[in-house]
Amino acid sequence: MRSALQFTRSMATAAASKTPNMKTFKIYRWNPDTPDVKPFMQSYELDMNQTGPMVLDALLNIKNEMDATLTFRRSCREGICGSCAMNIGGKNTLACLCKLDKESNKELKIYPLPHMYIVRDLVPDLTLFYKQYKSIQPYLQSNEKMPERENLQSVEDRKKLDGLYECILCACCSTSCPSYWWNQQEYLGPAVLMQAYRWMVDSRDKATDARKAMLQNSMSLYRCHTIMNCSKTCPKGLNPGGAIAEIKKSMAFD
Ligand code: SF4
Ligand code: SF4
Ligand code: FES
Repeated sequence: MRSALQFTRSMATAAASKTPNMKTFKIYRWNPDTPDVKPFMQSYELDMNQTGPMVLDALLNIKNEMDATLTFRRSCREGICGSCAMNIGGKNTLACLCKLDKESNKELKIYPLPHMYIVRDLVPDLTLFYKQYKSIQPYLQSNEKMPERENLQSVEDRKKLDGLYECILCACCSTSCPSYWWNQQEYLGPAVLMQAYRWMVDSRDKATDARKAMLQNSMSLYRCHTIMNCSKTCPKGLNPGGAIAEIKKSMAFD
């Protein structure tokens, strides 16, 4: 029987013996240490026979084997941490969940998340995004005496959190929203508003009125014009635009 090492080696040899299948990646570059050099697109050629299945695999190949200066965030490579969010082929998504099209030799353009300040290359500055998240007080608030063990909910109440708690705060949705692009300082954006809603509908949280009052102004919530770019782009298949519509409904009728 073959060992795992022999198997890996034979796979690598098989891949190496195939005719190269080259694909061009054009990647946004900007280095704050050289402020006189304007941002530019840098090309890299990779053999798809030697690259893993996802865009993150290609980026890691470039960084490890061609250009160690290329800078991007990643951690889990499982679509859980949200750190590899970027604009790939015109769409905000997670590099680790974005499959490489190996059949097409069309070049692939990769930019950082749009309309954000850039720290370097593909790394956006998320300081404001996290500040906005903090502003909605994303934790359970209640003056009731807490139970000693689990704070139980009915099955129906727990179900209300489905489609909300799964958000990994990658910011793909907020940075695809035109209202967020133009009013980022005041409009909270879809990711943060969906988390505000997550706490509003939690049966254990007793701060719903205060949470609504925080959004009762012309900018924090009502800059959403239901364009729905946010829900189309979410790499986790969530519906932040729908959550915003629910907040507006409850502000109007409850
Ligand atoms: S709703 Fe989706 S796109 Fe928006 S932050 Fe959460 S996981 Fe990311
Ligand atoms: S639905 Fe609202 S939050 Fe979503 S993209 Fe449109 S304006 Fe932005
Ligand atoms: S590396 Fe964690 S979501 Fe992509």
